[in-house]
Amino acid sequence: MYSYIGDISKIAQNIILNYVKNKNIGVDCTLGNGHDSDFLKSNFKKVYSFDIQKSACEKYSNNNYDNVIVINDSHSEIIKFIEEKNVDAIMYNLGFLPGSLNKSITTTYDTTIKSIEEGLKILSPGGIMTICIYIGHDEGIKEESCIMEFVKKLPKNKFAVMEHKFLNRSNLAPKLIIIEKNNI
Ligand SMILES: C[S@@+](CC[C@H](N)C(=O)[O-])C[C@H]1O[C@@H](n2cnc3c(N)ncnc32)[C@H](O)[C@@H]1O
Repeated sequence: MYSYIGDISKIAQNIILNYVKNKNIGVDCTLGNGHDSDFLKSNFKKVYSFDIQKSACEKYSNNNYDNVIVINDSHSEIIKFIEEKNVDAIMYNLGFLPGSLNKSITTTYDTTIKSIEEGLKILSPGGIMTICIYIGHDEGIKEESCIMEFVKKLPKNKFAVMEHKFLNRSNLAPKLIIIEKNNI
């Protein structure tokens, strides 16, 4: 297989692991089955994990991790729930829950954009936001184009924005956006 170019969620985790210096507060904006929350809870002092699906929240809460706060609400309410107002990493794994029978419960462009916009306000200098985008479904196509439009307009003196995408796969292959906040 491949050591660097594999699953985009793993690439996102590796970037955070290697380039976020202060690992105090991490936010998983799309808890789902909890893979990003597992990563964050092992590497950050405190983690906030959002999901609108009660079942996902209850399942993860049952682990009783003492450094994870599970929030059964939309990530568009990120500012309301995070008391510190300064976080070091924010992760999104958009789309619907893998393995779920109900694929209509998916992230949507309006709440995703609101969440990214608000999240960037509370991201610490030197902090990183990762956004895994899945384009292989209707809502994902709309979400991708809104996110691309939004991130391309971020001021370059405040944020560096980079896209990771597969060049030898289908146009519908997932892609990863990395946003780093300037630390000066
Ligand atoms: C692709 S899955 C996340 C996968 C997850 N990272 C994992 O490790 O399994 C997307 C998740 O986002 C959740 N979701 C959808 N809209 C949301 C919203 N507005 N706020 C928070 N979570 C949302 C869905 O319920 C779903 O569980």
